[in-house]
Amino acid sequence: MTDSLNYAATVLRRCDELAAFSEEEGRLTRRFATPELRQAGERVREWMEAAGMAVRRDAIGNLIGRLGDADRQTLLIGSHLDTVRDAGRYDGTLGVVIGIACAELMRDRGAVLPYAIEVVGFADEEGTRYGTSYLGSRAFVGCFDDGWLERRDADGVTMRAALGPFGGSPDGIAQCRRDPADLIGYYEVHIEQGPTLESEGLPLGVVTAIAGQTGATVTFSGVAGHAGTVAMSLRRDALTAAAEWILATETLARETDGLVATVGRLALDPGVGNVIPGRATVTLDLRHPEDPVRIAVGAELRRRAEAIAAARGLAVQWCSHETAAVSLAPQLIEPLAEAVAAAGQPVLRLPSGAGHDAAIVSTIAPAAMLFVRCAGGVSHNPAESVTVEDVAAAIEATTRFLELLA
Ligand code: GLV
Ligand code: MN
Ligand code: MN
Repeated sequence: MTDSLNYAATVLRRCDELAAFSEEEGRLTRRFATPELRQAGERVREWMEAAGMAVRRDAIGNLIGRLGDADRQTLLIGSHLDTVRDAGRYDGTLGVVIGIACAELMRDRGAVLPYAIEVVGFADEEGTRYGTSYLGSRAFVGCFDDGWLERRDADGVTMRAALGPFGGSPDGIAQCRRDPADLIGYYEVHIEQGPTLESEGLPLGVVTAIAGQTGATVTFSGVAGHAGTVAMSLRRDALTAAAEWILATETLARETDGLVATVGRLALDPGVGNVIPGRATVTLDLRHPEDPVRIAVGAELRRRAEAIAAARGLAVQWCSHETAAVSLAPQLIEPLAEAVAAAGQPVLRLPSGAGHDAAIVSTIAPAAMLFVRCAGGVSHNPAESVTVEDVAAAIEATTRFLELLA
């Protein structure tokens, strides 16, 4: 455990160092295809190379470090290097940096694995810039929709235009697709982002499943007008329609066991104090462990948006995408549970409410995840925090897992 503590201290130092690569002064924001994400990746590349890995970037900007001959079966160890706005420093980053630390620790212990390891830092999991999550892992598994290249960020920059300066290649994305034939599986270490491990007093958890997710952009279109002259009875105010729908969404989510619904962004046009809003665009994030429940609630919320808009004389446009709930692979969960026990930790199995690259990679390879306790279950918040002891426990369990797969 002492040497895992040393490697864990390095992991935490590296997470601190990467937190400095930010688009915003004084807070961590590192969105897809930005210079800051590129620079963070270049620092990670240096650590990968120092660990003996051959490193490449694919056309979407995923950073991939390989340890082991080209003809070997491969275990992927990954997570993402992008962040939400005003993020914590461990969501995603921790899993990539722990992957490198485990490869270094195995090398330093003289362990020889009969398979190759590839540590992957996915370029986009959060979807913060283009409103489509998992761009990195979707390209990696070959389900990237080329239509996404024309999406624009808040500044009007298309994904196609952003990719070039980032070192990506819009026309090469089909080549990011990883051939499943030589994959042993995919393994991801991630902070729990929930309170279970802390309340159970445990450093680690073995993940069984990942909740499904619907992401929607809902646009209410009314008529902009003068705040001083248009009578209340004549208004077609897009914001009040959106507000009615947001509260209906909250009520339905509260009434539906296990469902969580979030409106995280609201944009108004023209967005001026003395003009009745003509357009209100809101995002919806809907999650539930069971797909049929999530899908039924999504359909009901769409009906309600249409009814609210119709009653107020407005139009509504609904644009959504789905990620199905995923069960992780028993053939990896069992050795992972054994590895956690061998590392001297109690084994707790738990589902994930948050989305992860593992959900996407599980479509081409068996996938497993290990959760690390985080203080207060807090994430997507600068207050994210982990202890060096818990990270050491994750390193210890991971190295035993790697040995068990040999
Ligand atoms: C990823 O962080 C998610 O939104 O679950
Ligand atoms: Mn996240
Ligand atoms: Mn994450």
